[in-house]
Amino acid sequence: MASKYQAPRGTFDVLPEQARSRRRLERAAAEVFGRAGYEPIATPVFEDTDLFERGVGQSTDIVRKEMFTFEDKGGRSLTLRPEGTASICRAYLEHGMQKLAQPVKLFYLGPFFRHERPQAGRYRQFHQLGIECIGTDSPLADAEVIMLLSELLGELGVPGVELRLGSLGSFEARRAYLEDLKAHLHAHEGELSKDVRERIDINPLRAFDSDDEGTRGVMASAPTIVDQLEGEDAEHFAEVRALLDAAGVSYAVDPTLVRGLDYYTRTIFSFVCDRLGAQSEIGGGGRYDGLIEQLGGQPTPAVGFAAGIERILLALDEEVPAEGCDAFVAIADESRRQQAMTLTAQLRQAGVSAEVDLAGRGLKGQFKHANRIGARRVLILEADGSAQLRDMETGEQRAADPGNLVEEMKGGDS
Ligand code: HAM
Repeated sequence: MASKYQAPRGTFDVLPEQARSRRRLERAAAEVFGRAGYEPIATPVFEDTDLFERGVGQSTDIVRKEMFTFEDKGGRSLTLRPEGTASICRAYLEHGMQKLAQPVKLFYLGPFFRHERPQAGRYRQFHQLGIECIGTDSPLADAEVIMLLSELLGELGVPGVELRLGSLGSFEARRAYLEDLKAHLHAHEGELSKDVRERIDINPLRAFDSDDEGTRGVMASAPTIVDQLEGEDAEHFAEVRALLDAAGVSYAVDPTLVRGLDYYTRTIFSFVCDRLGAQSEIGGGGRYDGLIEQLGGQPTPAVGFAAGIERILLALDEEVPAEGCDAFVAIADESRRQQAMTLTAQLRQAGVSAEVDLAGRGLKGQFKHANRIGARRVLILEADGSAQLRDMETGEQRAADPGNLVEEMKGGDS
């Protein structure tokens, strides 16, 4: 009978067979980022609402429409985190990490929440993995974080991935550019979609993301910031590109690239995957040199990214088989139950994965079950106190020393 309750809209359960591919991904990420010296960090799943309003930005879709915000019993406004960067900058300041050797290199992974219209690859509770490199404005850091996501996707074997690269310049350059862009949009107001027209002065960059035909026509002749970069901004972008070239990471410069968060300055990037349909961005990020100051700290340059775990898994579309177990302890007679439990515990302590029948099956049923769970060997505890060891791959069976079963099991081939 179907259950009366279902997981809330836009959420999903991770069942054991799906948890296996997630675990492979999480291990690969910890490995790739760990090799580069990124240390794990975890922050709460909710924060003061103000942190995201300030950090992510009032004009963004995330803050305007997508946050799960609630009041706690003390009347404080809290929000389930829609992203990780603002929280990590909060933690950086709260724990005085500016006193550590810079940059501070952090790695995180966990659930995030956005009230979006659910579709394939877009959920209301989803998972991200990400890194943040805080305390340096060197283009080496930009290149490093981009390389690390590229390396992770490569190591996992994600097919059809492309990297798009852009630059927004410094805050000042961006401000000047936005005025030009607004002027261009106002000059063509009649050709724009209603949504874009209403937001010309709030968030003109989003016009680059529009699917509306009229808007696309207007954007084809719009000024782009990449073409207007000057001085140190232009040098920084050129250096990031040269470093990526040197590292053999291929990319396409996309002057129309925009991202849905307000904190970006200079480098922005997006990894897209052609297997994903409409929600094609697998991960993205960029530099956010003004965010820590915005949150009350000293000016502190930083760069990072986040990737959607579900999107990586969708693109991989693979099944990771269960690991099976080394030993199944079969109880041929009830009188051997206690010994079976003791032996199972000893095997596990010795690092051997071991299971025992918990369902009161007959011996035949236990063999069937051992087969089902992929047990490599079965230890049969016979009624007369003797023991047998069967190799499930070859079917070979031999007597085992009942006084030395852990050693027998650890001792390689049966
Ligand atoms: P973001 O682009 O908003 O950036 O999200 C990063 C990734 O999370 C996206 O590329 C996508 O794969 C995944 N994602 C976002 N929303 C959803 C959703 N509703 N369902 C499933 N997956 C989703 C950030 O969050 C920034 N904090 C990245 C960053 C880190 N920038 C600098 N440091």
